[in-house]
Amino acid sequence: MCGIIAYIGRKDCKDILINGLKRLEYRGYDSAGIGILESKNTKDAKGIKIKVAKEAGKIKMLEDMIGRSEMKGCTGIGHTRWATHGEPTKVNAHPHLDCKQEIAVVHNGIIENYAEIKEELIEKGHKFVSDTDTEVLPHLLEEYDEGDLQIAMSRLLARIKGSGAIVAISTKYPDQIIAGRIASPLIVGISKDANFFASDMPAVLEHTRDFLVINDYETVRITREKVQIFNISGEIVKRDPFRASWNIESAEKGGYEDFMLKEIFEQPYGAKETMRGRLGNGKLDFSELDLSDKQINQLKKIEIIACGTSYHAAVIGKQVIEKWAGIPVEVDFSSEYRYRDPVVMDNCLFIAITQSGETIDTLAAIREAKSRGAKIIAITNVVGSSVARESDYVLYTHAGPEIGVCATKTFTAQIMIMYMLGLFLAKKRKSLEKARFSEIASELEIMPNKISDILDNADKLKKIADQTYRQTCFLFLGRIFGFPVALEGALKLKEISYIHAEGYPAGEMKHGPIALTDKKTVVVSIIPKDFIYEKMLSNITEVKARKAIIFSLASKKDKKIEELSDHIFYIPETIEELYGILAIIPIQLYSYYIAKNLDRNVDQPRNLAKSVTVE
Ligand code: G6P
Repeated sequence: MCGIIAYIGRKDCKDILINGLKRLEYRGYDSAGIGILESKNTKDAKGIKIKVAKEAGKIKMLEDMIGRSEMKGCTGIGHTRWATHGEPTKVNAHPHLDCKQEIAVVHNGIIENYAEIKEELIEKGHKFVSDTDTEVLPHLLEEYDEGDLQIAMSRLLARIKGSGAIVAISTKYPDQIIAGRIASPLIVGISKDANFFASDMPAVLEHTRDFLVINDYETVRITREKVQIFNISGEIVKRDPFRASWNIESAEKGGYEDFMLKEIFEQPYGAKETMRGRLGNGKLDFSELDLSDKQINQLKKIEIIACGTSYHAAVIGKQVIEKWAGIPVEVDFSSEYRYRDPVVMDNCLFIAITQSGETIDTLAAIREAKSRGAKIIAITNVVGSSVARESDYVLYTHAGPEIGVCATKTFTAQIMIMYMLGLFLAKKRKSLEKARFSEIASELEIMPNKISDILDNADKLKKIADQTYRQTCFLFLGRIFGFPVALEGALKLKEISYIHAEGYPAGEMKHGPIALTDKKTVVVSIIPKDFIYEKMLSNITEVKARKAIIFSLASKKDKKIEELSDHIFYIPETIEELYGILAIIPIQLYSYYIAKNLDRNVDQPRNLAKSVTVE
């Protein structure tokens, strides 16, 4: 939540900051601002001023506004906001300034003790203009600055409670930008002529692919030529940069109308990349886990925690691990787990799923589990993310950068990992017959082709969406392997269309949701030809009798389903445990086309953010 960019180099940075913010807009989009150190002669500190431009609304509004003003300078910071404290107004937008207008700060996070700090600062004579928690930060730096802004930032980190990626510029130190970090994401981008801070790699991929991670309570000074990282005691820390495999093209729309559509169509590639080096020619390799056969065989339980869409991948993981490997699996929302005094037993493996690797609740749940002695496996799409760094093992999904706020390709990549992990554990525990193992492995290997077959029929889903988008209630029903798909389907639709939708196990429908059904309801039934097909048919008959419109995602033509359904989309046949990954693709497209019919912004739905770094 909230996106930060900072640049120091030889070029005028206004456009670099604006373009970077556009690439971070998925992190927050209610207001934005930039601050640039402006001077005709940069060697003369006295002539330097901070010029700030901010605007409520999308970055385009800021860009239009700046277009009318002169802003020149080679050192600057920018911010796109997802409001926490204070409404999304121009005055609350970042950067925020100190009393003398010498220091400008952008911040992503929440200062929990800001009220007490603010009171103290007001007593000392500081003047505040916004309702934000962030505004205490430039004033604190003003108080703490005794000739070195990095030391002042270090004192600031010690003073605040909560979370923050904080970046500051000052007219007194025009040749540097200082940052500090507690819990919120922030990386350094390094290039020959310039250095950057950013919340996420896509913001600066057009300038560099070389990055440095920053750990909690570290402060960083960047100049045009140098990057210095300091630990909490003020000592310089040596750290090697890493090179991102992502490139700028992967963070562009590439001819698609929206990132979401592009990312839906990238799923065959994402699934293939996630398998690369792990599964091929019937062989499964998860050596990256470094777990001994003994450890795997002694496992008594697996605990998976996640939020949002990742939680639905966790439910799929539970189903296949239990079925194939015979290990009991508990799935929890991270936000519940972290506060519910969980029992961490011996021989329990702990898995955290998070596409961003930065979700604050998942991070906190990991810390909670670790403090109780658990070993953590992270499944994430972002190399060097906080969750990746704080876990014992990392299984990266290789879906490429996902810019659309709602998760699509990262979800299917997570499912691929869960399928492979289930198979891997089963193999080690010898709980699956060899022939069955080979059958599932081969089916997984051709999954990208089956996903492509569905995408080739996107126009059929568009037609169904065109005919149903005016309905006011959507019920997604599935059983067993269709159930997590129902949950994710309802989430997808409500996220981007703002239509009321619920995902339910079809067998539970009679215990409540059936009361919602009438002719304004669409029931999306996930009904592949599996062992529970007949039961699903009965459930659909029941809602059909209440006049709901039935849209079935089936796998095999038969008379009964054709008679019952108003609309049908056929997904390719597969092994019943694997229907989930195929059934979600048409639902993503269907939700997309409904939202487009309603003229929604699918890439940046209202009130949402791609990575939730505040509680
Ligand atoms: C936000 C995003 C969702 C995502 C959830 C969990 O709400 O909008 O798309 O599923 O966070 O994010 P994570 O990065 O932990 O998977």
